[in-house]
Amino acid sequence: MIAIACDHSALELKAEIKALLEQRGLEYKDFGTDSEASCHYPIFGARAAKAVASGECDRGIVICGTGIGISLAANKVKGIRCALCSDTYSARMTRAHNDANMLAMGARVIGVELAKEITAAWLDTPFEGGRHKTRVDMITAIENGEDIEP
Ligand code: RB5
Repeated sequence: MIAIACDHSALELKAEIKALLEQRGLEYKDFGTDSEASCHYPIFGARAAKAVASGECDRGIVICGTGIGISLAANKVKGIRCALCSDTYSARMTRAHNDANMLAMGARVIGVELAKEITAAWLDTPFEGGRHKTRVDMITAIENGEDIEP
């Protein structure tokens, strides 16, 4: 189950990404917004992120104008690693190396076709584990207030 959310600036792109998920036979839960009325992106970023952090959803995709605000909001939820991507290389690598459990995109930054390619790359790439797990675990340790100095 994929959590998906956006603000008012990204309704069209969210619809395209939902269609892509449907084509791939992936279930999603839409956490809003569902209107073009100006809204506050942290509300929707947090809703999707909490669903991922709680295990209700496996991964999440969040979209705002730049992708920055909604990714910042998602990353404030414990357990979330939300990567803002504007290229397919970063989308692949943030799965392979960072085990990013959420993807953020900027609807005013990238086009629809690139956003779909980024989403596909992010969905299809597994985490490599190994030395990358050590580093991801260090990120979690920072989140837990632990000292990661060697
Ligand atoms: C909304 O105007 C815009 O600020 C928002 O979509 C996003 O870009 C914030 O980071």
